[in-house]
Amino acid sequence: MKFIVDTDPGTDDAVAILIALAHFNDDEFLAITTVAGNVTVEVGTKNALRLLEHTNRNNIPVYKGEEKPLYRELTTAEWVHGSDGLNGVDFPNPSKNEETLDAVSYIKNLLLKSDEKITICVLGPMTNIGKVLSQNPKLSSNIEQIIFMGGGAGFGNTTPVAEFNFFVDPEAVNIVLNSGVKLIMMGLDVTHQAIATKARLEDILETKTVTGKNIVGLMSSLSDIEVVRELFPDGTPVHDAFVTAYLVDNTLTNGKFVNIEIETKSELSLGQSVIDINSVTGRKKNVYWMNQVNDDKLFEIIKFASSKLP
Ligand code: RIB
Ligand code: CA
Repeated sequence: MKFIVDTDPGTDDAVAILIALAHFNDDEFLAITTVAGNVTVEVGTKNALRLLEHTNRNNIPVYKGEEKPLYRELTTAEWVHGSDGLNGVDFPNPSKNEETLDAVSYIKNLLLKSDEKITICVLGPMTNIGKVLSQNPKLSSNIEQIIFMGGGAGFGNTTPVAEFNFFVDPEAVNIVLNSGVKLIMMGLDVTHQAIATKARLEDILETKTVTGKNIVGLMSSLSDIEVVRELFPDGTPVHDAFVTAYLVDNTLTNGKFVNIEIETKSELSLGQSVIDINSVTGRKKNVYWMNQVNDDKLFEIIKFASSKLP
């Protein structure tokens, strides 16, 4: 299985990337592509390089992606992830730079040349993937599946109805939803069911590794934000971890094949994922919408990554 991770690191992105680094080798984990979202694409790109430096995986290339959504101005979330994107958690500075080729060109070339289909893990706004598919629709047949964190049925975390990744670039999501690619959605419906409780964080610290300490730092840093602490008094979700943990063990979640569309026009509900759970519209089903999760399994996978990495 060959995959890439498209990401806006981001504290929970970092946990997801560390899970992938712990479980897959360089022949499987082909590259990291970065996109603007939680932080600017410059900051996110540096963080991807820092994670590779920390884990001695500098053979994995990093390609810098789009610095703003397809048609809109960028909305970031430094208030959640800090100006450095990792809330000050101590990862080393990188000893290498990102590749000179941009992410969209890299993804297009990879899909054109690969002798096997590629899985794409999307942890942030879908700008890069949306641009690749809008410019080259036929490349959808070279994609094995897109596993993404985004959306949610009936509630949001950025507006009352929109999740952040969907809100930042709804037009890119719309392209992906209508691409014909096999789509696996890890929305707020599952991510809010797996909480980084104090007991789970202490269990990860038992690994006695720097990675374990840093993962706890990443996950607990969000609880330092009052509004987050009020929403999640027992600990926070680790949204993006679901995507790469599902690569590790696809029994992590279960769900339903449904039709999902996204609102791209209304100011009131921009970015809302409209999930036709009961098929009342008759619209073509296009997404495996996950809504059940084995949350203990998620944290077992995070703990294993913490024990396996430096
Ligand atoms: O809504 C949560 C998502 O938005 C996560 O991917 C987080 O990293 C942010 O990008
Ligand atoms: Ca993210």
